Amino acid sequence: MSTEVGVTSTPAAATPETEDLRRLIGLVEHDAAADPFPVTGWDALVWTVGNATQTAHFLESAFGLRLEAYSGPETGNRDHKAFVLRSGGVRFVVRGAVDPASPLVAHHDLHGDGIVDIALEVPDVDRCIDWARTHGAQVLTEPHDETDEFGTVRSAAIATYGDTRHTLVDRSRYDGPYLPGFVARRSRFEPRPGSPVRIFQAIDHVVGNVELGRMDHWVEFYRRVMGFENMAEFVGDDIATDYSALMSKVVASGNHRVKFPLNEPAPSRKRSQIDEYLEFYRGPGVQHIALATSDILTAVDTLRGEGIEFLDTPDSYYEDPELRARIGHVRAPVEELQRRGILVDRDEDGYLLQIFCKPITDRPTVFFELIERHGSLGFGKGNFKALFQAIEREQESRGNL
Ligand SMILES: [Fe+2]
Repeated sequence: MSTEVGVTSTPAAATPETEDLRRLIGLVEHDAAADPFPVTGWDALVWTVGNATQTAHFLESAFGLRLEAYSGPETGNRDHKAFVLRSGGVRFVVRGAVDPASPLVAHHDLHGDGIVDIALEVPDVDRCIDWARTHGAQVLTEPHDETDEFGTVRSAAIATYGDTRHTLVDRSRYDGPYLPGFVARRSRFEPRPGSPVRIFQAIDHVVGNVELGRMDHWVEFYRRVMGFENMAEFVGDDIATDYSALMSKVVASGNHRVKFPLNEPAPSRKRSQIDEYLEFYRGPGVQHIALATSDILTAVDTLRGEGIEFLDTPDSYYEDPELRARIGHVRAPVEELQRRGILVDRDEDGYLLQIFCKPITDRPTVFFELIERHGSLGFGKGNFKALFQAIEREQESRGNL
């Protein structure tokens, strides 16, 4: 019998309701009518990978997503295969070239596996594009309709950092499996007996790494072009170790459903993890995706059981009396967190539990974070130093420190 990990108020529901989102990711009330660029939520994270067939299987077998739609040569798409996978409210689309002349090949040659499109759900594509265009956005795809027997999807796309884009999607008049051109598809994969129905429920935040000196440019871009607001700010010593440092600012949509921390490297004695990313991704791009769960302990146990590796946290982190005093009472014994390497941070609003996996790509670029919030709306500022020291040990083992 499967159990629910990302618990919802209605356990059978696949997609979290508003109340669940308040708890899981800190959703807030927002007057969309007064917002020049209202964003409802995430539509999809679209990946380009070297082998979509295998990545889709990996996301199903290890991370518990379920295949729900497909496009490829069998459906008339001779350029590439695209697999649409879901976990709760999270939709990933993984695409890989079939035709050696596909434009995906050149993208993958340059960047390796990564996220090409952070697609957002908006109620009014044209209104968003009008606002974005007059505030300096580069419009990559003009607003247009795509129609099939399931209805009509209206979308458009604007450029953001590096080769990353935001497709803006209004699917309110559509009830097909994903987009016109896709067919509903299940895989033959069967979850192990006793494994959770899903490991995570929602996207909490997506982090972008940008070049030295460019963070404020992109913060300003999200404020001016997309009406996002500043959420928090970590600079300098907050996230510096002896060897590496970074600066980070967070912007969020009005309802806080979409949160984008933006990192840039800061000068330090050795190369930071951001420098390493920028070198191997060949420029700015998505660094990590934070996945919200309401049971991070079971999530970590399940993922470890599938061979997913997480960053090690030193025992000293848990034994540090200052940290113990700061985190106070949390829902699980500290020993249980220590056994799994789960980090804790607390602020005036509450606390959060988080853990970071190692890059899931060959290049040291993209990774996942699991996050379980208990009131805190932060991003684990107090953990950054302990975390970066752990990352540096990994960098050193790859000869990149
Ligand atoms: Fe994060």
